[in-house]
Amino acid sequence: MEKIDRQVSVVINGERCIGCGTCIAVCPSGTLALEAGQAIVSGHESLSCGHCEAACPVEAIRIGALNNDSQQFATFRQQTDWLAPGSADIASLVQLMRSRRSCRNYQDRPVPLAVLQDLVKIGLTAPSGSNCQPWAFTLLPSRAAVLHLGDMIGAFFRRLNRMADRYLLRGALRMIGRPELDFYFRNYRNAVAEALEAWDRTGRDLLFHGAPAVILVGTRADAACPKEDALLATQNMLLGAHAMGLGTCLIGFAVSALKQDPAILKRLDIPDGESVHAVIALGYPDEKEIYQRLPGRKALTQRVWDPDRSD
Ligand SMILES: Cc1cc2nc3c(=O)[nH]c(=O)nc-3n(C[C@H](O)[C@H](O)[C@H](O)COP(=O)(O)O)c2cc1C
Repeated sequence: MEKIDRQVSVVINGERCIGCGTCIAVCPSGTLALEAGQAIVSGHESLSCGHCEAACPVEAIRIGALNNDSQQFATFRQQTDWLAPGSADIASLVQLMRSRRSCRNYQDRPVPLAVLQDLVKIGLTAPSGSNCQPWAFTLLPSRAAVLHLGDMIGAFFRRLNRMADRYLLRGALRMIGRPELDFYFRNYRNAVAEALEAWDRTGRDLLFHGAPAVILVGTRADAACPKEDALLATQNMLLGAHAMGLGTCLIGFAVSALKQDPAILKRLDIPDGESVHAVIALGYPDEKEIYQRLPGRKALTQRVWDPDRSD
C-alpha cells in the first residue's frame, strides 16, 4: 500500500479567528491548537476532513485540499444546509432504504451520462478510512459497453468452470487449505453453466439482467480500507439511484471475475494498483419492478453485551 497523504493544508485567517476553540474540539488529528487566543496549526499531519472549516462560526478556516467541484450536481438541485442530528426525517429515510430493491427488469432506455456522473458524486459523500477518499469509478454508459464486459466475464467463467470440473484439482486445492474452487463447484458451477448456455442460445442476459449501464466502484492503491470504502460509497449510490428513479442491482459474479482476472481490468483501462469491489448494474426499471408493498427481512441476529447490566 502507498503512503497515506496526511499533508496539512489548513489555512487560518487570523483576522477573523475569535479563538473560540471549536475547530480544536472537532479536529480528529490534533492538527490545531490555541495560542494567544487564536487558532494555529500546531500538528504535522491532517486528515483534511474539513470538520474545522465546517464548524468555524466566523468562516476563518479553509482546507486547501478540499473543493466543492465534486459535490456540484448537474441533474438535481441540492440543499446545502447542514442537517443537525435529529433534524432529518427518519421515517422518509427508512422508507427509502426499504423501498430500494435489486432490479432485474429494465426499460430499453439509456441512462444519461450526467445522471451516472451525479450518482458517482453521491458515492463520494460516504466516509472513508483515514479520509483517503480513494474511490475510482468506471462508468459503462451504454448497453454495448455492458455487453462487452459481459463477454469478458463470460469467458472468465467458462475457464473457471473447466477448472472446477477437475475433481483432482479441487481436492488438491482443498487439501492445501484452498477450498474456494470446491465451494464454487458445489454452490455456483451449475447455475453459471446454465446462464452461459442461455447467453449462447438465446442471448438472455442473466448476468446484468439487460441493464443499459454499469458502474464499477473501485479504489486506488492509496486506500487504507479499500473494500469498506468502496462498499459504503456503493450503498449511498444505490439509495441515491432509487431516489433518482433508477433501479440497481449489485453483480457479485462480475466482482469475482474482475478480482480474479486482471486482464479484464486492463481491457477496461483500469490502472495497475486499482481494484474493483462492487459492480452496479442500473437503468430505468420497467413495470415488472413496480412493487405494491414492503416485505419483511429474515430473522434478526442480535445480542446486547453489557457486563454491568443486572437483568
Ligand atoms: C455482495 C452482493 C452481490 C450480489 N450479486 C448479485 C448478482 O450477481 N446477481 C444478482 O442478480 N443479484 C445480486 N445481488 C443482489 C441480492 O440478491 C439482493 O440484494 C438480495 O436478494 C436482497 O434483495 P434486495 O436487494 O432487493 O433487498 C447481490 C447482492 C450483494 C449484496
